[in-house]
Amino acid sequence: MPMTCHASVSLALLWLRASLTDALFMRVPIESPNQAEHDRPHRRSMYKRVADLQAGDIELHKEAYRRIGQLLDLATSMPHSKHILHFVMSHPEAPVLPPGGCMYLPSDTAWASFYEHLEHPFPALFVEMVANSYYPSCNDTSLSGLKLPSSCGAEAMRGSRGCFKVTSLGSAAGIEVFETAGHVGLPDKWSYHIEHATAPRSRVPQTGAVSKCGMSGELPQVPQAARLVIPTRYVVCRMSDDDDSVTEQHVREQNRWANEALSGLSPWARTDFDGDERPASADMQISFELSDISIVTDSQCAKHGFTKPWLLHKYNQNASQHFTFVIIANDQSGVMGQSLLPHQLSEEDSPEHMVVVSTEGFRGHAGRNRGDMRYDEGDALVHEAGHGLGLYHTFEGSCANRGANGGRGDFIEDTSDEAMPHYECALTRSCGKADPVHNFMAYSPDSCKVGFTEGQKRRAWCELEHHRAALYQRSLRK
Ligand SMILES: *[C@@H]1O[C@H](CO)[C@@H](O)[C@H](O)[C@H]1NC(C)=O
Ligand SMILES: *[C@@H]1O[C@H](CO)[C@@H](O)[C@H](O)[C@H]1NC(C)=O
Repeated sequence: MPMTCHASVSLALLWLRASLTDALFMRVPIESPNQAEHDRPHRRSMYKRVADLQAGDIELHKEAYRRIGQLLDLATSMPHSKHILHFVMSHPEAPVLPPGGCMYLPSDTAWASFYEHLEHPFPALFVEMVANSYYPSCNDTSLSGLKLPSSCGAEAMRGSRGCFKVTSLGSAAGIEVFETAGHVGLPDKWSYHIEHATAPRSRVPQTGAVSKCGMSGELPQVPQAARLVIPTRYVVCRMSDDDDSVTEQHVREQNRWANEALSGLSPWARTDFDGDERPASADMQISFELSDISIVTDSQCAKHGFTKPWLLHKYNQNASQHFTFVIIANDQSGVMGQSLLPHQLSEEDSPEHMVVVSTEGFRGHAGRNRGDMRYDEGDALVHEAGHGLGLYHTFEGSCANRGANGGRGDFIEDTSDEAMPHYECALTRSCGKADPVHNFMAYSPDSCKVGFTEGQKRRAWCELEHHRAALYQRSLRK
């Protein structure tokens, strides 16, 4: 797409202003995850996957994962790695672990730093992570063929941010399991994202970026007759003119789906742990009214939209007048989507007010392209839209709602706390009460996501009213 000189000058100014805003907010950079400095050869090793096994051997394969899981139960710091192993175990591409090797898995503290730097990781990549984290002969070469650097002395590994601790937890199923204070097996895409995301923004608001909206219980009820009908535009960044993997028709269908979700009408695939009552699914009294769809050929935007968001700003002029979704077709970051919350930007017309979504999570895309069907319904866009409307993750601040936001978690009283994201649709109680896996602001698979809560509705209305006032006024129907 040819750009005029004038356009590039104003783009540069926009970016400069965005950087200045950052400086004024004095955002404290949160240390990025410490990841082992792998040599990542172009050619990778082949290894046996679940799909290659005879039916009778599948249980044996799962047994190794289960035994490692039991060992992880003995360490208090490893519940998330256990969850990830359990999630990967049943995946058709899951690596079969031959006995006699070494498995390196991150502690929950290491995971917490990961989640601060990567929004909504594409879950299928956890399979690659396990293959990268397993060393069949306990030497320097992983099952997938990655090579570790020389060590950092005893019980430590060389990482991007210095040596990190590696502690043996014992052995299970003939495999020695290690807890690591950094990440040993990050897949290529996540590793790339962590190294290249230029303005890594924590989801935690920093000094100066304070929301005017407190706990949901203190926020006013939304008047019954009021609605926000938000003028919405979609930009689809594709690699070439003949790529029609996302058409206007697909966009309309995704937007219809999002509006259904916002009205509390998402289908509920009842699970064996659900009661008779439909999980919380408030009518948010918000809908996205399509005002424009543009499909542009822009390979930089299509590939690097998550690491270089300013490449997308030219598509978001007059940002205060619209809600903008940018769909990127060839994501190199391995994330499903990314969005700031309204209060995290001080200016309503900042082009950073946009929701970026990868086609991996776009409605119908997996079905049309043999992708991962668990993310085919289109809920990734609804989740990211939730951030764009001012909602945090259900697992923000973990169980004690500690840390972030002065210890107030997601600011929502009617979502139960959640220690870490969950990728399975299962009954877990990471903070005592059932985890909110049916909530759109969790990371569960699409079939599991059913609705938003009343508290989330109040917060979304409040964030828009106070931090995107022009758009709020334009959208309000009484
Ligand atoms: C490490 O183990 C792999 C098999 O897991 C083997 O192919 C490779 O040659 C070994 N490398 C060294 C340096 O011993
Ligand atoms: C932005 O708004 C101005 C003034 O209302 C208008 O002339 C212009 O066409 C708009 N640009 C876009 C891309 O919407």
